[in-house]
Amino acid sequence: MQFIKTETYEELSRKAAGIIASQVILKPDCVLGLATGSSPVGTYKNLIAACKNGDLDFSSVTTVNLDEYVGLDGTNDQSYRYFMEENLFKGINIKSENTFVPNGCAGDLEKEGEAYDARIKALGGIDLQLLGIGIDGHIGFNEPDSFFTAPTHQVVLDESTIKANSRFFASEDEVPKKAITMGMLSIMQAKKILLVANGAAKKDILEKAFFGPITPEVPASILQLHPDVTVIFSEN
Ligand code: F6R
Repeated sequence: MQFIKTETYEELSRKAAGIIASQVILKPDCVLGLATGSSPVGTYKNLIAACKNGDLDFSSVTTVNLDEYVGLDGTNDQSYRYFMEENLFKGINIKSENTFVPNGCAGDLEKEGEAYDARIKALGGIDLQLLGIGIDGHIGFNEPDSFFTAPTHQVVLDESTIKANSRFFASEDEVPKKAITMGMLSIMQAKKILLVANGAAKKDILEKAFFGPITPEVPASILQLHPDVTVIFSEN
């Protein structure tokens, strides 16, 4: 594992974008696993800038996102599909048919999970997975549990996650209580993992996840078993 500490969020974002840019340059038809949340926003801004100035070409890239709230469709401005359109996709030359986000409105979420994993497999797996980390140690929406869940599946969000994510909603009551998330198998099978974490509030959980015991109580700790993980952390 490579652990990079940066002085500022801007530096974190530039470095993370640089790693993703290298991936796209080295393999123009790569599969990028993407995350939402506040940590990757600066990274996405840098990728948009690089695409606009002609340094990056996303026309052959495919993306698969980690998760989506159950019950929110892509037109809802709190959905993760909407977030991705606004914060990345509309700023780069990616083909919309090459962008995948789990469908939180699918009638049968178990089938949706199976289809999502099958799609990732058919794409040849994920070349680079971008992750954030929750203060409870979740990656995607794999919340602390007594076991690691392999496939893409439905989850009930933890109180701490609902509280943390309420900053994006008018009130805590409006935060959906359930989500569909990529499971640990697709994440761990990604060839390369890049985790970005911003703010002093993430310091303790990073310590636990990467320097503590590997346990489903701290879902991100499973990343200690992955052969190619880069963590970029800015405390400020
Ligand atoms: C988002 C996701 C979550 C976030 C995590 C951190 O797609 O999968 O695991 O990465 O909740 O969110 P921020 O970056 O907002 O602290």
